[in-house]
Amino acid sequence: IYHTPELTPTDRIPDCAIAVDVLRATTTMATVLAAGGEAIQVFSDLDKLLQVSEKWAADKRLRAGERGGGKVEGFDLGNSPLDCTKERVAGRRLFISTTNGTRALQCIQSAPTVLAAAFVNRAAAVQYVLSQQPEIVWIVGSGWEGSYSLEDTACAGAIAHSLLQKTNLPLEELAGNDEVVGAIALYEQWQDKLVELFHQASHGKRLLRLDCHEDIKYCAQMDILDALPIQTEPGVLKISDQ
Ligand code: MLT
Repeated sequence: IYHTPELTPTDRIPDCAIAVDVLRATTTMATVLAAGGEAIQVFSDLDKLLQVSEKWAADKRLRAGERGGGKVEGFDLGNSPLDCTKERVAGRRLFISTTNGTRALQCIQSAPTVLAAAFVNRAAAVQYVLSQQPEIVWIVGSGWEGSYSLEDTACAGAIAHSLLQKTNLPLEELAGNDEVVGAIALYEQWQDKLVELFHQASHGKRLLRLDCHEDIKYCAQMDILDALPIQTEPGVLKISDQ
């Protein structure tokens, strides 16, 4: 598990890298694909997003921009998963740039398999990893501008916890990997009160100040979506057909 994109080693590439931005980018991405979105295309730079999306027909694209938790002016959407209804997103490509989540995805885009996971689609991510049996898996929490985040670490712990359970491996198997043991412990402590955990988290508090109570509740739901965004070309994620 790597807490932030900044801490991911640049000299090693895992077989499978999973970006996690529970609040809210990877939750939003799974929601968009579950609602029939054609694809997600991620950008760290807003101008680049505008430039690339310009080439798409207006009725086939949606531009989502978030900075500091708020919607970027002039964009169709911010980063609220609740705005991503079927009516709004079906058949369209979401061009999205967020403060941390899209940057995390760009940092890991050279891995052979890149997934976007959150609590909402945790089981789908675990299922996919088990079906592929990669040797080295990275779970990269997006954090906030380079720092650790509680909610992403708890979600990484939830994924690792489920992988261990389903493979019948004991926790001792992870001895020496302090990050993953810590993440699993965090998840186990908070699994039945994720909303409360998010309220303790620095980004959760930021979202509460922005009145995003319903987003927090939505993002705290576990295993409600089968949709798993998987990278099909650098920076583009589509639904996994497995
Ligand atoms: C991010 O990428 O930092 C976020 O997903 C922030 C948010 O919109 O809540």
